[in-house]
Amino acid sequence: MKMGTSIFLKDKSNLFTKRLIPLTICSLLPITMLLLYFYHLPFSQAPKIEITNSKPIINITSHSASPPSSSYSEKKKGHQNQCDYSKGDWVKDTRGPLYNDTTCGMMKEGRNCMTHGRPDSDYLYWRWKPNECKLPRFEPNTFLQLSKNKHIAFVGDSLARNQLESLLCMLATTSIPKLVYQNGKDNQFSRWYFSSYNSTISLYWSPFLVQGIEKSNTSPNNELYLNHVDEKWAKDMNQMDMIVLSIGHWFLLPAIYHEGGTILGCHYCGLNYTEIGFYDVLRKALRTTLNSIIDRRGNKGNEINVIVTTFTPHHFEGAWDKAGACPKTKPYRNGEKKVEGMDGEMRKIEIEEVVAAKAKGNEFGRLRFEVLDVTKLALLRPDGHPGPYMNPFPFFNGVQEHVQNDCVHWCLPGPIDTWNEIFLEIIKKWEEQPS
Ligand SMILES: *[C@@H]1O[C@H](CO)[C@@H](O)[C@H](O)[C@H]1NC(C)=O
Ligand SMILES: *[C@@H]1O[C@H](CO)[C@@H](O)[C@H](O)[C@H]1NC(C)=O
Ligand SMILES: *[C@@H]1O[C@H](CO)[C@@H](O)[C@H](O)[C@H]1NC(C)=O
Ligand SMILES: *[C@@H]1O[C@H](CO)[C@@H](O)[C@H](O)[C@H]1NC(C)=O
Repeated sequence: MKMGTSIFLKDKSNLFTKRLIPLTICSLLPITMLLLYFYHLPFSQAPKIEITNSKPIINITSHSASPPSSSYSEKKKGHQNQCDYSKGDWVKDTRGPLYNDTTCGMMKEGRNCMTHGRPDSDYLYWRWKPNECKLPRFEPNTFLQLSKNKHIAFVGDSLARNQLESLLCMLATTSIPKLVYQNGKDNQFSRWYFSSYNSTISLYWSPFLVQGIEKSNTSPNNELYLNHVDEKWAKDMNQMDMIVLSIGHWFLLPAIYHEGGTILGCHYCGLNYTEIGFYDVLRKALRTTLNSIIDRRGNKGNEINVIVTTFTPHHFEGAWDKAGACPKTKPYRNGEKKVEGMDGEMRKIEIEEVVAAKAKGNEFGRLRFEVLDVTKLALLRPDGHPGPYMNPFPFFNGVQEHVQNDCVHWCLPGPIDTWNEIFLEIIKKWEEQPS
Protein backbone atom coordinates (compact mmCIF):
# COMPACT_ATOMS: atom_id res chain seq x y z
CA MET A 1 0.00 0.00 0.00
CA LYS A 2 1.28 3.41 -0.91
CA MET A 3 1.31 5.74 1.99
CA GLY A 4 1.89 9.41 2.39
CA THR A 5 5.12 8.90 4.24
CA SER A 6 5.62 12.60 4.54
CA ILE A 7 2.81 12.72 7.01
CA PHE A 8 4.40 10.31 9.40
CA LEU A 9 5.86 12.29 12.18
CA LYS A 10 8.74 10.49 13.72
CA ASP A 11 9.54 12.93 16.45
CA LYS A 12 7.85 11.16 19.30
CA SER A 13 8.85 7.79 20.57
CA ASN A 14 7.41 4.47 19.62
CA LEU A 15 6.26 4.25 23.19
CA PHE A 16 3.06 2.52 22.30
CA THR A 17 3.85 0.45 19.32
CA LYS A 18 4.67 -2.63 21.34
CA ARG A 19 1.33 -2.49 23.03
CA LEU A 20 -0.69 -1.91 19.93
CA ILE A 21 -3.41 -4.33 19.35
CA PRO A 22 -2.86 -5.72 15.91
CA LEU A 23 -4.87 -3.78 13.45
CA THR A 24 -4.25 -2.57 10.00
CA ILE A 25 -2.50 0.59 10.91
CA CYS A 26 -2.00 1.50 7.32
CA SER A 27 -5.73 1.78 6.95
CA LEU A 28 -5.94 3.85 10.08
CA LEU A 29 -3.64 6.68 9.30
CA PRO A 30 -5.36 8.30 6.35
CA ILE A 31 -8.63 8.40 8.23
CA THR A 32 -6.98 9.98 11.15
CA MET A 33 -5.44 12.52 8.88
CA LEU A 34 -8.69 13.15 7.14
CA LEU A 35 -10.52 13.67 10.38
CA LEU A 36 -7.80 15.99 11.54
CA TYR A 37 -8.12 17.88 8.35
CA PHE A 38 -11.87 18.08 8.64
CA TYR A 39 -11.61 19.44 12.10
CA HIS A 40 -9.12 22.10 11.18
CA LEU A 41 -6.14 20.96 13.10
CA PRO A 42 -2.75 21.81 11.69
CA PHE A 43 -0.45 19.14 10.35
CA SER A 44 1.88 19.46 13.29
CA GLN A 45 -0.73 17.90 15.52
CA ALA A 46 -0.94 14.75 13.55
CA PRO A 47 -0.83 11.69 15.76
CA LYS A 48 2.30 9.63 15.97
CA ILE A 49 1.63 6.35 14.35
CA GLU A 50 4.03 3.72 13.25
CA ILE A 51 3.31 0.83 11.05
CA THR A 52 3.54 -2.52 12.69
CA ASN A 53 3.19 -5.82 10.99
CA SER A 54 -0.33 -6.75 11.61
CA LYS A 55 -2.71 -9.53 10.89
CA PRO A 56 -6.43 -9.40 10.95
CA ILE A 57 -7.41 -10.66 14.34
CA ILE A 58 -10.94 -11.67 13.79
CA ASN A 59 -12.71 -14.59 12.38
CA ILE A 60 -15.30 -13.26 10.06
CA THR A 61 -16.59 -16.63 9.06
CA SER A 62 -17.45 -17.45 12.63
CA HIS A 63 -19.98 -14.69 12.80
CA SER A 64 -23.25 -14.54 11.03
CA ALA A 65 -24.60 -11.16 10.10
CA SER A 66 -28.16 -12.31 10.20
CA PRO A 67 -30.10 -12.02 13.39
CA PRO A 68 -31.09 -15.27 15.02
CA SER A 69 -33.75 -16.81 12.84
CA SER A 70 -36.01 -17.32 15.84
CA SER A 71 -36.54 -13.57 15.94
CA TYR A 72 -38.54 -13.83 12.77
CA SER A 73 -42.18 -14.70 12.84
CA GLU A 74 -43.00 -18.17 11.61
CA LYS A 75 -45.97 -16.82 9.71
CA LYS A 76 -43.78 -14.77 7.45
CA LYS A 77 -41.70 -17.70 6.41
CA GLY A 78 -40.66 -17.24 2.83
CA HIS A 79 -41.28 -13.54 3.00
CA GLN A 80 -38.40 -11.63 1.54
CA ASN A 81 -37.94 -9.72 4.77
CA GLN A 82 -36.10 -12.72 6.07
CA CYS A 83 -33.48 -11.92 3.55
CA ASP A 84 -29.92 -11.29 4.68
CA TYR A 85 -29.29 -8.03 2.88
CA SER A 86 -25.62 -8.02 3.76
CA LYS A 87 -24.75 -10.73 1.27
CA GLY A 88 -24.96 -9.97 -2.41
CA ASP A 89 -23.41 -8.17 -5.31
CA TRP A 90 -23.55 -4.77 -6.94
CA VAL A 91 -25.10 -5.13 -10.37
CA LYS A 92 -25.52 -2.68 -13.22
CA ASP A 93 -28.74 -0.70 -13.15
CA THR A 94 -29.72 1.75 -15.85
CA ARG A 95 -32.35 3.54 -13.76
CA GLY A 96 -30.00 5.84 -11.87
CA PRO A 97 -30.67 7.70 -8.65
CA LEU A 98 -33.94 9.21 -7.45
CA TYR A 99 -32.48 12.65 -6.95
CA ASN A 100 -29.70 15.04 -7.77
CA ASP A 101 -28.31 18.25 -6.42
CA THR A 102 -30.91 20.39 -8.13
CA THR A 103 -33.74 18.42 -6.56
CA CYS A 104 -32.25 18.23 -3.07
CA GLY A 105 -31.18 21.18 -0.98
CA MET A 106 -30.11 19.34 2.15
CA MET A 107 -26.69 18.05 1.20
CA LYS A 108 -23.60 19.02 3.06
CA GLU A 109 -21.29 20.72 0.60
CA GLY A 110 -18.60 18.06 0.44
CA ARG A 111 -20.94 15.28 -0.76
CA ASN A 112 -22.03 17.09 -3.85
CA CYS A 113 -19.84 15.20 -6.30
CA MET A 114 -21.73 15.83 -9.53
CA THR A 115 -22.06 19.51 -8.87
CA HIS A 116 -18.42 19.68 -7.92
CA GLY A 117 -17.45 18.46 -11.34
CA ARG A 118 -16.87 14.74 -10.87
CA PRO A 119 -16.51 13.72 -14.50
CA ASP A 120 -17.59 10.07 -14.38
CA SER A 121 -21.13 9.02 -13.62
CA ASP A 122 -20.98 5.22 -13.80
CA TYR A 123 -20.97 5.07 -10.00
CA LEU A 124 -24.62 6.14 -10.07
CA TYR A 125 -25.77 3.14 -12.06
CA TRP A 126 -25.46 0.20 -9.71
CA ARG A 127 -27.93 -1.47 -7.43
CA TRP A 128 -27.36 -3.89 -4.62
CA LYS A 129 -28.65 -7.36 -5.38
CA PRO A 130 -28.87 -9.50 -2.24
CA ASN A 131 -28.31 -13.21 -2.83
CA GLU A 132 -31.55 -14.29 -1.25
CA CYS A 133 -34.08 -11.72 -2.36
CA LYS A 134 -34.75 -8.55 -4.27
CA LEU A 135 -34.09 -5.23 -2.61
CA PRO A 136 -36.83 -2.87 -3.79
CA ARG A 137 -35.92 0.59 -4.98
CA PHE A 138 -36.50 3.19 -2.29
CA GLU A 139 -40.16 4.19 -2.01
CA PRO A 140 -40.42 7.65 -0.45
CA ASN A 141 -44.19 7.35 0.00
CA THR A 142 -43.95 4.09 1.85
CA PHE A 143 -41.25 5.46 4.11
CA LEU A 144 -43.28 8.55 4.91
CA GLN A 145 -46.41 6.50 5.55
CA LEU A 146 -44.50 4.31 7.97
CA SER A 147 -42.97 7.30 9.73
CA LYS A 148 -46.32 9.00 10.31
CA ASN A 149 -46.52 10.63 13.76
CA LYS A 150 -43.00 9.52 14.48
CA HIS A 151 -39.69 11.09 15.30
CA ILE A 152 -36.68 9.40 13.71
CA ALA A 153 -33.33 10.53 15.08
CA PHE A 154 -29.96 9.98 13.43
CA VAL A 155 -27.30 10.05 16.09
CA GLY A 156 -23.58 9.72 15.60
CA ASP A 157 -20.77 11.05 13.47
CA SER A 158 -20.55 12.48 9.97
CA LEU A 159 -21.56 9.16 8.46
CA ALA A 160 -24.83 9.34 10.39
CA ARG A 161 -25.29 12.70 8.76
CA ASN A 162 -24.36 11.33 5.36
CA GLN A 163 -27.07 8.67 5.70
CA LEU A 164 -29.61 11.17 6.95
CA GLU A 165 -28.97 13.49 4.03
CA SER A 166 -29.40 10.64 1.58
CA LEU A 167 -32.73 9.82 3.21
CA LEU A 168 -33.93 13.42 3.16
CA CYS A 169 -32.96 13.78 -0.49
CA MET A 170 -34.94 10.69 -1.44
CA LEU A 171 -37.96 11.70 0.65
CA ALA A 172 -37.87 15.19 -0.80
CA THR A 173 -38.74 13.74 -4.21
CA THR A 174 -42.21 13.19 -2.72
CA SER A 175 -42.55 15.71 0.05
CA ILE A 176 -40.28 18.61 0.91
CA PRO A 177 -39.56 18.78 4.62
CA LYS A 178 -39.41 21.99 6.55
CA LEU A 179 -36.23 22.74 8.45
CA VAL A 180 -37.54 23.52 11.93
CA TYR A 181 -34.40 23.60 14.02
CA GLN A 182 -30.70 24.10 13.49
CA ASN A 183 -27.93 24.57 15.97
CA GLY A 184 -24.30 23.87 16.69
CA LYS A 185 -21.11 24.16 14.71
CA ASP A 186 -21.83 23.26 11.09
CA ASN A 187 -25.49 22.66 12.04
CA GLN A 188 -24.68 19.44 13.79
CA PHE A 189 -28.06 19.50 15.46
CA SER A 190 -30.91 19.82 13.00
CA ARG A 191 -34.52 18.86 12.66
CA TRP A 192 -36.85 18.55 9.70
CA TYR A 193 -40.61 18.22 9.71
CA PHE A 194 -42.94 16.62 7.15
CA SER A 195 -46.20 18.34 8.02
CA SER A 196 -48.49 16.14 5.91
CA TYR A 197 -47.26 13.15 7.88
CA ASN A 198 -46.45 14.77 11.22
CA SER A 199 -43.12 13.06 10.98
CA THR A 200 -39.88 14.46 12.23
CA ILE A 201 -36.35 13.52 11.22
CA SER A 202 -33.50 14.87 13.26
CA LEU A 203 -29.73 14.85 13.45
CA TYR A 204 -27.68 14.75 16.63
CA TRP A 205 -23.92 15.08 16.50
CA SER A 206 -22.43 12.63 18.96
CA PRO A 207 -19.37 10.89 17.52
CA PHE A 208 -18.90 8.65 20.59
CA LEU A 209 -22.56 8.35 21.68
CA VAL A 210 -21.22 8.52 25.21
CA GLN A 211 -20.17 11.74 26.84
CA GLY A 212 -17.04 13.10 25.25
CA ILE A 213 -14.91 16.14 24.86
CA GLU A 214 -13.58 16.55 21.37
CA LYS A 215 -9.94 17.41 21.04
CA SER A 216 -8.97 20.97 20.34
CA ASN A 217 -5.88 23.02 19.67
CA THR A 218 -5.12 23.11 23.35
CA SER A 219 -5.82 19.48 24.15
CA PRO A 220 -4.82 17.02 21.46
CA ASN A 221 -6.80 14.05 22.77
CA ASN A 222 -10.47 13.29 22.73
CA GLU A 223 -11.76 12.44 26.19
CA LEU A 224 -14.44 9.82 26.52
CA TYR A 225 -16.52 9.06 29.59
CA LEU A 226 -17.47 5.51 28.87
CA ASN A 227 -20.19 4.99 31.42
CA HIS A 228 -22.16 8.13 30.72
CA VAL A 229 -24.36 8.40 27.68
CA ASP A 230 -24.04 11.73 25.84
CA GLU A 231 -26.96 13.83 27.06
CA LYS A 232 -26.72 16.08 24.02
CA TRP A 233 -28.88 13.51 22.29
CA ALA A 234 -30.05 11.31 25.15
CA LYS A 235 -31.91 14.15 26.85
CA ASP A 236 -34.39 14.01 23.97
CA MET A 237 -34.69 10.23 24.03
CA ASN A 238 -38.25 10.35 25.37
CA GLN A 239 -39.39 12.10 22.20
CA MET A 240 -37.81 9.60 19.84
CA ASP A 241 -39.58 6.68 18.19
CA MET A 242 -36.68 5.43 16.18
CA ILE A 243 -32.97 5.97 16.64
CA VAL A 244 -30.38 5.30 13.96
CA LEU A 245 -26.90 5.10 15.46
CA SER A 246 -23.75 5.36 13.39
CA ILE A 247 -20.29 5.65 14.88
CA GLY A 248 -16.80 4.30 14.39
CA HIS A 249 -14.19 6.47 12.74
CA TRP A 250 -13.78 8.88 15.64
CA PHE A 251 -12.69 6.01 17.83
CA LEU A 252 -9.48 5.78 15.84
CA LEU A 253 -8.32 9.19 17.00
CA PRO A 254 -6.02 9.88 19.96
CA ALA A 255 -8.06 9.72 23.14
CA ILE A 256 -8.11 9.35 26.89
CA TYR A 257 -10.72 7.03 28.32
CA HIS A 258 -12.50 7.58 31.61
CA GLU A 259 -14.60 4.97 33.33
CA GLY A 260 -16.22 5.59 36.66
CA GLY A 261 -13.94 8.04 38.40
CA THR A 262 -10.74 6.63 36.97
CA ILE A 263 -8.74 6.73 33.79
CA LEU A 264 -8.97 3.40 32.09
CA GLY A 265 -6.21 4.08 29.60
CA CYS A 266 -5.71 5.87 26.36
CA HIS A 267 -5.09 5.53 22.66
CA TYR A 268 -2.06 7.26 21.06
CA CYS A 269 -2.40 9.92 23.69
CA GLY A 270 1.28 10.63 24.22
CA LEU A 271 0.80 10.51 27.97
CA ASN A 272 1.76 7.98 30.59
CA TYR A 273 -1.45 5.99 30.47
CA THR A 274 -1.85 2.42 29.38
CA GLU A 275 -2.47 2.07 25.66
CA ILE A 276 -5.68 0.07 25.38
CA GLY A 277 -6.59 0.54 21.73
CA PHE A 278 -10.14 1.32 20.77
CA TYR A 279 -11.99 -1.95 20.24
CA ASP A 280 -13.01 -2.48 23.85
CA VAL A 281 -13.75 1.18 24.09
CA LEU A 282 -16.12 1.07 21.14
CA ARG A 283 -17.81 -1.90 22.76
CA LYS A 284 -18.20 -0.14 26.08
CA ALA A 285 -19.50 3.03 24.48
CA LEU A 286 -22.09 1.12 22.50
CA ARG A 287 -23.09 -0.95 25.49
CA THR A 288 -23.57 2.13 27.66
CA THR A 289 -25.64 3.67 24.88
CA LEU A 290 -27.89 0.70 24.24
CA ASN A 291 -28.30 0.04 27.97
CA SER A 292 -29.31 3.63 28.55
CA ILE A 293 -32.03 3.24 25.94
CA ILE A 294 -33.23 0.06 27.64
CA ASP A 295 -33.13 1.69 31.09
CA ARG A 296 -34.95 4.81 30.06
CA ARG A 297 -37.44 3.41 27.60
CA GLY A 298 -37.96 -0.20 28.63
CA ASN A 299 -40.89 0.65 30.88
CA LYS A 300 -41.91 4.00 29.60
CA GLY A 301 -43.39 5.79 26.63
CA ASN A 302 -44.12 4.45 23.18
CA GLU A 303 -42.27 1.58 21.73
CA ILE A 304 -38.86 2.49 20.46
CA ASN A 305 -36.83 1.03 17.61
CA VAL A 306 -33.08 1.25 17.42
CA ILE A 307 -30.90 0.62 14.41
CA VAL A 308 -27.13 0.48 14.41
CA THR A 309 -25.53 1.12 11.04
CA THR A 310 -22.31 -0.87 10.94
CA PHE A 311 -18.84 0.48 10.29
CA THR A 312 -18.05 1.42 6.72
CA PRO A 313 -14.51 1.07 5.40
CA HIS A 314 -12.63 3.87 3.73
CA HIS A 315 -10.91 3.40 0.38
CA PHE A 316 -7.71 5.37 0.57
CA GLU A 317 -5.22 3.77 -1.76
CA GLY A 318 -2.66 6.52 -1.73
CA ALA A 319 -1.79 9.63 0.19
CA TRP A 320 -4.87 11.46 1.38
CA ASP A 321 -3.59 14.80 0.12
CA LYS A 322 -2.56 13.75 -3.39
CA ALA A 323 -4.61 13.34 -6.53
CA GLY A 324 -5.77 9.77 -7.05
CA ALA A 325 -6.29 8.88 -3.39
CA CYS A 326 -9.35 6.77 -4.18
CA PRO A 327 -9.30 6.53 -7.96
CA LYS A 328 -11.60 3.58 -8.67
CA THR A 329 -14.64 4.15 -10.82
CA LYS A 330 -16.23 0.72 -10.55
CA PRO A 331 -17.40 -1.46 -7.65
CA TYR A 332 -15.53 -4.58 -6.65
CA ARG A 333 -17.31 -7.79 -7.50
CA ASN A 334 -18.51 -10.03 -4.72
CA GLY A 335 -15.62 -12.25 -3.70
CA GLU A 336 -13.01 -9.78 -4.77
CA LYS A 337 -12.81 -8.25 -1.29
CA LYS A 338 -13.38 -9.67 2.15
CA VAL A 339 -14.46 -7.78 5.23
CA GLU A 340 -11.44 -8.21 7.47
CA GLY A 341 -8.98 -6.51 9.77
CA MET A 342 -10.18 -3.44 11.57
CA ASP A 343 -13.31 -3.13 9.42
CA GLY A 344 -14.36 -6.62 10.38
CA GLU A 345 -13.59 -6.13 14.04
CA MET A 346 -15.54 -2.87 14.30
CA ARG A 347 -18.50 -4.48 12.57
CA LYS A 348 -18.33 -7.57 14.75
CA ILE A 349 -18.34 -5.54 17.97
CA GLU A 350 -21.31 -3.52 16.80
CA ILE A 351 -23.28 -6.61 15.86
CA GLU A 352 -22.47 -8.37 19.11
CA GLU A 353 -23.60 -5.43 21.18
CA VAL A 354 -26.86 -5.17 19.25
CA VAL A 355 -27.49 -8.89 19.72
CA ALA A 356 -26.88 -8.46 23.48
CA ALA A 357 -29.22 -5.47 23.64
CA LYS A 358 -31.85 -7.38 21.70
CA ALA A 359 -31.79 -10.13 24.32
CA LYS A 360 -32.08 -7.62 27.16
CA GLY A 361 -34.74 -5.61 25.38
CA ASN A 362 -36.91 -8.65 24.72
CA GLU A 363 -37.99 -8.66 28.35
CA PHE A 364 -39.82 -5.42 27.83
CA GLY A 365 -41.51 -6.14 24.53
CA ARG A 366 -41.47 -2.53 23.44
CA LEU A 367 -37.88 -2.13 22.37
CA ARG A 368 -36.49 -3.39 19.13
CA PHE A 369 -32.88 -3.43 18.08
CA GLU A 370 -31.58 -4.18 14.63
CA VAL A 371 -28.32 -4.06 12.77
CA LEU A 372 -28.11 -2.30 9.45
CA ASP A 373 -25.19 -4.33 8.24
CA VAL A 374 -23.63 -2.36 5.42
CA THR A 375 -19.94 -3.02 5.97
CA LYS A 376 -19.67 -5.40 3.03
CA LEU A 377 -21.81 -3.29 0.72
CA ALA A 378 -19.61 -0.34 1.52
CA LEU A 379 -16.37 -2.25 1.15
CA LEU A 380 -17.30 -3.15 -2.40
CA ARG A 381 -17.84 0.49 -3.41
CA PRO A 382 -14.44 2.18 -3.73
CA ASP A 383 -16.00 4.27 -6.49
CA GLY A 384 -18.59 5.94 -4.30
CA HIS A 385 -16.52 8.52 -2.43
CA PRO A 386 -16.13 12.19 -3.21
CA GLY A 387 -12.34 11.90 -3.38
CA PRO A 388 -11.09 15.28 -4.60
CA TYR A 389 -14.67 16.31 -5.49
CA MET A 390 -15.34 17.05 -1.87
CA ASN A 391 -14.31 20.50 -3.10
CA PRO A 392 -15.73 22.19 -6.20
CA PHE A 393 -13.70 21.69 -9.37
CA PRO A 394 -10.49 20.62 -7.68
CA PHE A 395 -8.56 20.46 -10.96
CA PHE A 396 -9.78 23.72 -12.43
CA ASN A 397 -6.20 25.03 -12.32
CA GLY A 398 -4.60 21.73 -13.15
CA VAL A 399 -3.48 19.07 -10.69
CA GLN A 400 -1.94 20.73 -7.67
CA GLU A 401 0.66 19.23 -5.38
CA HIS A 402 -1.80 19.02 -2.53
CA VAL A 403 -5.29 17.81 -3.25
CA GLN A 404 -7.59 17.19 -0.35
CA ASN A 405 -9.48 13.90 -0.66
CA ASP A 406 -12.44 12.35 1.07
CA CYS A 407 -12.43 8.56 0.65
CA VAL A 408 -14.55 7.99 3.76
CA HIS A 409 -17.91 9.64 3.14
CA TRP A 410 -20.19 9.03 0.17
CA CYS A 411 -21.24 11.08 -2.79
CA LEU A 412 -24.91 12.04 -2.85
CA PRO A 413 -26.56 10.50 -4.70
CA GLY A 414 -24.47 7.38 -4.27
CA PRO A 415 -24.07 3.98 -2.63
CA ILE A 416 -25.29 5.22 0.74
CA ASP A 417 -28.79 5.55 -0.74
CA THR A 418 -28.83 1.77 -0.60
CA TRP A 419 -28.33 1.82 3.19
CA ASN A 420 -31.68 3.59 3.36
CA GLU A 421 -33.34 1.11 1.02
CA ILE A 422 -32.41 -1.61 3.50
CA PHE A 423 -33.44 0.64 6.39
CA LEU A 424 -36.90 0.88 4.82
CA GLU A 425 -37.11 -2.90 4.47
CA ILE A 426 -36.34 -3.21 8.19
CA ILE A 427 -39.10 -0.75 9.03
CA LYS A 428 -41.53 -2.61 6.77
CA LYS A 429 -40.69 -5.84 8.54
CA TRP A 430 -41.31 -4.20 11.92
CA GLU A 431 -44.63 -2.87 10.73
CA GLU A 432 -45.75 -6.39 9.85
CA GLN A 433 -44.62 -7.75 13.19
CA PRO A 434 -45.63 -5.44 16.02
CA SER A 435 -43.35 -6.03 18.96
C1 LIG B 1 -13.32 -19.44 12.50
O1 LIG B 1 -14.65 -19.85 12.64
C2 LIG B 1 -14.91 -21.12 12.07
C3 LIG B 1 -16.42 -21.37 12.13
O2 LIG B 1 -16.93 -21.12 13.41
C4 LIG B 1 -14.09 -22.17 12.80
O3 LIG B 1 -14.30 -23.43 12.23
C5 LIG B 1 -12.61 -21.80 12.70
O4 LIG B 1 -11.84 -22.69 13.46
C6 LIG B 1 -12.39 -20.38 13.20
N1 LIG B 1 -11.03 -19.99 12.97
C7 LIG B 1 -10.32 -19.33 13.87
C8 LIG B 1 -8.97 -18.94 13.44
O5 LIG B 1 -10.77 -19.03 14.96
C1 LIG C 1 -31.89 16.45 -11.85
O1 LIG C 1 -33.15 15.85 -11.73
C2 LIG C 1 -34.18 16.58 -12.41
C3 LIG C 1 -35.50 15.91 -12.07
O2 LIG C 1 -35.45 14.52 -12.20
C4 LIG C 1 -33.87 16.57 -13.90
O3 LIG C 1 -34.87 17.31 -14.58
C5 LIG C 1 -32.50 17.21 -14.12
O4 LIG C 1 -32.14 17.13 -15.47
C6 LIG C 1 -31.45 16.52 -13.28
N1 LIG C 1 -30.20 17.26 -13.37
C7 LIG C 1 -29.05 16.65 -13.58
C8 LIG C 1 -27.85 17.53 -13.60
O5 LIG C 1 -28.95 15.45 -13.75
C1 LIG D 1 -46.98 14.01 15.91
O1 LIG D 1 -45.76 13.29 16.06
C2 LIG D 1 -45.25 13.30 17.37
C3 LIG D 1 -43.96 12.50 17.33
O2 LIG D 1 -43.00 13.18 16.60
C4 LIG D 1 -46.22 12.67 18.34
O3 LIG D 1 -45.71 12.76 19.64
C5 LIG D 1 -47.54 13.39 18.26
O4 LIG D 1 -48.49 12.73 19.08
C6 LIG D 1 -48.04 13.42 16.82
N1 LIG D 1 -49.27 14.19 16.74
C7 LIG D 1 -50.44 13.66 16.37
C8 LIG D 1 -51.59 14.62 16.27
O5 LIG D 1 -50.58 12.47 16.12
C1 LIG E 1 4.71 6.04 34.05
O1 LIG E 1 3.99 5.64 35.20
C2 LIG E 1 4.57 4.54 35.88
C3 LIG E 1 3.64 4.12 37.01
O2 LIG E 1 2.93 5.18 37.54
C4 LIG E 1 5.95 4.96 36.41
O3 LIG E 1 6.57 3.89 37.09
C5 LIG E 1 6.81 5.38 35.23
O4 LIG E 1 8.05 5.86 35.66
C6 LIG E 1 6.10 6.46 34.39
N1 LIG E 1 6.88 6.70 33.20
C7 LIG E 1 7.12 7.90 32.75
C8 LIG E 1 7.91 7.98 31.48
O5 LIG E 1 6.74 8.93 33.32
